[in-house]
Amino acid sequence: MGQLLRELDWSGPEVQALREHAERLLVVHLREWVGEGPQSTDVIPGLHVDVSKQHLDAEAWADLLKLAQAAGLESSIASLFAGNPINETEGRAVMHMALRAEADDDLTVDGRDVMPDVLEVRDRFLGFADSVRTAGAYKHVVNIGIGGSDLGPLMVTRALRNFATEGPQVHFVSNVDPAHLSATLAGLDPTETLFIIVSKTFTTQETMANAAMAKAWLTSQLGDQPSIIAHHFAAVSSAVDKAEAFGIAAERVFGFANWVGGRYSLWGPVGLAIACAVGSKAFRELQAGARDLDLHFRKALLHENLPVMLGLIGIWNRNFLKRTTHVVLPYAQDLDRFPAYLQQADMESNGKRMSRSGELLGHETGPVVWGEAGTNGQHAFYQLLHQGSDIHPVDFIAFKKPMSDLPGAENSHQMLLANAIAQAEAMMVGRSEAETPHKLFPGNRPSTFMFFDALTPRSVGQLIALHEHRIFVQGVLWNLFSFDQWGVELGKVLANQILDEWQRSEDRGHDKSTESLMRQANA
Ligand code: F6P
Repeated sequence: MGQLLRELDWSGPEVQALREHAERLLVVHLREWVGEGPQSTDVIPGLHVDVSKQHLDAEAWADLLKLAQAAGLESSIASLFAGNPINETEGRAVMHMALRAEADDDLTVDGRDVMPDVLEVRDRFLGFADSVRTAGAYKHVVNIGIGGSDLGPLMVTRALRNFATEGPQVHFVSNVDPAHLSATLAGLDPTETLFIIVSKTFTTQETMANAAMAKAWLTSQLGDQPSIIAHHFAAVSSAVDKAEAFGIAAERVFGFANWVGGRYSLWGPVGLAIACAVGSKAFRELQAGARDLDLHFRKALLHENLPVMLGLIGIWNRNFLKRTTHVVLPYAQDLDRFPAYLQQADMESNGKRMSRSGELLGHETGPVVWGEAGTNGQHAFYQLLHQGSDIHPVDFIAFKKPMSDLPGAENSHQMLLANAIAQAEAMMVGRSEAETPHKLFPGNRPSTFMFFDALTPRSVGQLIALHEHRIFVQGVLWNLFSFDQWGVELGKVLANQILDEWQRSEDRGHDKSTESLMRQANA
């Protein structure tokens, strides 16, 4: 275990040099050296990334690049794209990039070109999505799934709201709380509703419970003939046989390989709900945007590689400046679920404490990721960002063009951008003179500003893939396995055990606190 990617020596000279830089830089206020570290980059057309407000100078940046070299990052990137089974605890390759690739992109797993199968399923599910949009049989599409089978598709569907000009209304149900399904179904007519059951494993408790309830709701009103289920259900899964056993017609089951992790899966059939909302053309643009980042990440040298740059800045903030959280602030209402999406992508990937060779790591790993669409956050938690006792590095995400053509939209959009830019400035510069100490702002709070020309399917694809690869970079340097998620298992096992005990009226013994709650639940 842990043989495929090189492990960085965290007691080596590269780490030591960076610790010394941190000591040196931490005593100088950020505003003193703006312009001395890495500045901005336009390596992806239509995207300007400004990192000049990071707490970094040129020397520290050069040594971060040396750290990446010492970690063997270039060969790790090559190993990822070579389809090596780098997800070692699950014995799998990591090849979600294939879902958005083109026929002649060189992507193989176990020596086999994966693109023919990917393209066959892509044409099939996008053809199905277009038929759902144009045939007019369905006014509502309800995506039932959770985690990666929900957060990515939901976030993108909302982000691309402006591109869903016709076609069905798309809804998302994830929580096992029955209130979620019933709130969604309220007012829907079963005759014009299509359910898409999305689950890589087709065993996830929440999704199976919601799928069964949706089936019961539908059949109680329309009858339970197989033709009814066939007409009102589609499925996306790696376990095609399980989806068919649920009663879903084979031609409406869209499969994908196990080298696609749930939180990296929106690019393939898991994105069916997105395609139902915006159509195949926009969906292919979304994929093309992600592919832009794949080509860049695979080929660019480390010092001009954008995911590498953002990954190293994250490492710098987390391990050397000891920042515990990472804030993401999209100044775009349509990206309001981006922070929630990123929480799974980042924390389920890098929220780990064991090395790839099974040792307890001696350094910090993934930060807490949180955030909110601007400007709403400004009136909630920015107080803490500006004057709280801890420093929380921030990523601002903004778009130059407004996403509205209402009268006055240009003006409001200018306000939105002025707020984003001003917040970054205020966090860095602070205010050192005021009539009372409570009105002082320490500043010295770093941020990165990602400035896209426009919010389009392509730029949203770029934004997501940029973060996927940034997360990979960090997992490589932290010496952990980014593509498994064993940490979600124990709670699932215990929930099933408690349910089983309730059903059998048994008491298999728990701690006193848990037993008391179990009694309360049935009181
Ligand atoms: O929460 C754990 C998890 O396995 C996620 O990684 C995954 O995205 C989610 O559950 C849903 O899994 P599935 O698609 O198999 O239903």
